[in-house]
Amino acid sequence: MGKPTKIYVCTEGKKCPKRGSKKVLAQLKAEVEQQNSSLEVKGCGCLGTCKKGPSLVVTPDKVRYGRVKPEDSADIVKAHSAGEGPVERLVITKKKKK
Ligand code: FES
Repeated sequence: MGKPTKIYVCTEGKKCPKRGSKKVLAQLKAEVEQQNSSLEVKGCGCLGTCKKGPSLVVTPDKVRYGRVKPEDSADIVKAHSAGEGPVERLVITKKKKK
């Protein structure tokens, strides 16, 4: 077995909660239950991608998602439970500073 996959949703930062991240967290938890997934979903502090909030990060995949809406939860849980890889439309692409 690999490492358990966890989803951390920014619910304690300054911006994401105002944009509905707590609803995203709640919906992700509901989806995990509904899909009988082994994913863990947790709230966390600021992830540094506030402008793209609500933000979340999936570990150990290190995938960052931005502008996540509650209705995206089903796709996120499904993709990561099945190891299908990221939900491309929500991925935050890092600007390379080199
Ligand atoms: S406030 Fe959520 S990423 Fe900063």
